[in-house]
Order: sequence, then structure tokens, then C-alpha cells
Amino acid sequence: MIILTGGTGYIGSHIAVELLNANQEIFIIDNLSNSSSDVLKGIKNITGKDFGFKKIDLRDKFSLEKLFKEHNFESVVHLAGLKSVKKSNEDPLSYYDNNILGTLNLLDVMKQFKVTKMVFSSSATVYGLPKKLPINENSNVGATTNVYGRTKFIIEEILKDLIGKKEGWKISVLRYFNPIGAHSSGEIGENPRGVPDNLLPFIFQVAEGRLDKLKIYGDDYDTPDGSGIRDYVHIEDLAAGHISALNFLKEKNPISFFNLGTGRGYSVYEIMSIFENISGISVPFEVTSRRKGDISEIYADVKLAKNTLHWTATKSIEKMIEDGWNWQQKNLNKLKGLS
Ligand code: UD1
Repeated sequence: MIILTGGTGYIGSHIAVELLNANQEIFIIDNLSNSSSDVLKGIKNITGKDFGFKKIDLRDKFSLEKLFKEHNFESVVHLAGLKSVKKSNEDPLSYYDNNILGTLNLLDVMKQFKVTKMVFSSSATVYGLPKKLPINENSNVGATTNVYGRTKFIIEEILKDLIGKKEGWKISVLRYFNPIGAHSSGEIGENPRGVPDNLLPFIFQVAEGRLDKLKIYGDDYDTPDGSGIRDYVHIEDLAAGHISALNFLKEKNPISFFNLGTGRGYSVYEIMSIFENISGISVPFEVTSRRKGDISEIYADVKLAKNTLHWTATKSIEKMIEDGWNWQQKNLNKLKGLS
């Protein structure tokens, strides 16, 4: 059985669906601090399959040990953690506490119960400011521009230190680019609480009239239209990458790092115009100053994931935005209730 930490979150829920569809047995844990147990219904509706769930915070080591005693876990997909760049800079201690301490507890319990296979959810944010594009997995990491990113980098370093120890750890670290979109069924998707920080959820809420206008954080970057360029990847493609990474744990490599992106960047203006074409809604916007910590342009070198994991993102930017917008509209009332 595979245990998913943070399994009711945006990324976790889509991975749960992929795993269940691949006939894997799974057990989800989550502290529900930034997600709702309603997500469990969505996963069940899509797959028609049963799975385990328990509300557990990774910092509660006692409950974690109890769970590992009760079940025979084979590997761990570790996603649980706080993820807001803004909040991480305002309250670093809670980010170090949740993300680092939670991971340390998890690793220690895994060691106790001899569960030594892990897929870890990292982020392209560990690269900081890219020197060369597309960015590959051997590029420098660590010069992160925010505390959230630092927690991901620190965890990567902790994981590297486990390699070669007698437990025989096998670890795949996945560096996500910008996951967007939703499951094509519209049953599960991103559900940000409060005002969203990320581009797509913000655009959706402006289009719905819940927010006034989009603020474009600078259009004086050294890019063709001046706005920031990112590598957006469909959440279903990203989830499928985890199945490939779990399979790869069977190989002899003790630790591997993979970019999960499409290898192609889109600017803020391009994203806005694709959304306008799809929805038929024009998005009011203003150009403001740059957001602190933002970089001008980043997109992935995806060769390693392609050649080693045999994984490539297949869904177009239009499909990403279409599925995200579909979920947003279907779930408008639910989302409103949470904000
Ligand atoms: C951010 C985080 C990254 C995290 C990712 C989750 C940083 C440095 N990185 O990435 O660690 O994993 O979210 O997807 O913050 N933009 C606007 N107006 C908005 C929102 C965004 O113009 O209201 C622009 C940004 O300047 C950027 C692009 O849209 O050029 C994408 O921004 P966002 O969705 O927040 O993602 P990242 O900043 O790339």
C-alpha cells in the first residue's frame, strides 16, 4: 500500500486518482489545514474505488507511528506541507515547523518501520534565479528567494544525507514547475482559501467578478512582452509523473531529481489572452510593480524525465486553462463558502 501525505490537497488528490486508476492501494493522510475532506468524495466519484484516510498532522509522531504499526506501507508519496510564498516570508517559523519538522518525523517513522521508498514533492523554486534556460536538474540549487522555497531546498538536502545509510533509502525528488488546471471531470481541483497568490486562480476569480482586476506584477521584464514567463503543467500530467517516479524507485539509483514541466514557457499576457479566448470573458487588469522575489523567466529542461522516467506532459495550455475554468465554475458555490 502507498501512503500519501497531504493527499487531500490540490496535487495530492490528483495523484490519488492516478494511483487508484492504476489499481494501487492507497492510504491518504492530511491535517486538513488547507483542504477539505469533501475532496475524498471527489476522488471516490471519479475512481469508484475505496481507500484509507486519516486526519493526521505529521508533527504528531505518536499518531504517525500508530498508523505505520497498523498498516503495511510499501512507499510514501510525501506532499504534506505549507505552500504560500507570501505567508512563508511573514511567518518563517511555522513553515520550518510544518515542513521541516513534519518531514523529519515522517522520515524517522519510515526508518523505524523499514519503509524506505519515497517520492518527494519539491519545487522549481529551489533553483532560485536561473542562469541558463531551459533549466536542468544539475543546475545550482539553494539560492531561493523565499522561505517556502528554502524549506523545499532544506528537505532535499536532508534526503541527500540519507543516501548510503544502511536502511537502503530509495528516493525520487520531483521539482514541479507551475501546476494548473483540474481533473477533466470537474470533481477535484485547486481550492485556494482567501485571495489567491497564484496567477490562474486569481484570473478565475476576477472573471467571476469576485475580485476587481488582475494585477500584472510588472511588464518591464526582459521577455518578449515584458511580463513574467513560467512553465505551466496540467495537474493530471503532473500526477501521472508520480506514478512514473514510483516505478523508478525499483531501479538501483538511491536518489534522483526530476523536473516536471512541459519545457515551454508562457507569459502572463499570453495566459490572460488564452483564458479570454476560452471563456469569452475579458479580464480587467492593471500593471503594477514587480512582486518581491519573482523572477522574469523559467522553464524546464524535461529531457531527464522523458528519457529516464518515460514521462512527458501531454496536455496543452488551452486544456489546462479549460479544465481549471470548468472546475472553478462547477464549484463556485463550494468555493465561495470557504473564502
Ligand atoms: C510561485 C512560487 C513557487 C510555487 C508556485 C506554485 C515564487 C517565487 N514562487 O511560483 O514557489 O511553487 O507559485 O504554483 O513565488 N502573477 C501576476 N499577478 C498575480 C499572480 C501572478 O502577474 O496576481 C505573475 C507572476 O509575477 C508570475 C506568474 O504570474 O510571472 C506566475 O505567478 P504564480 O502563479 O504566483 O507562480 P510563481 O510565482 O511562478
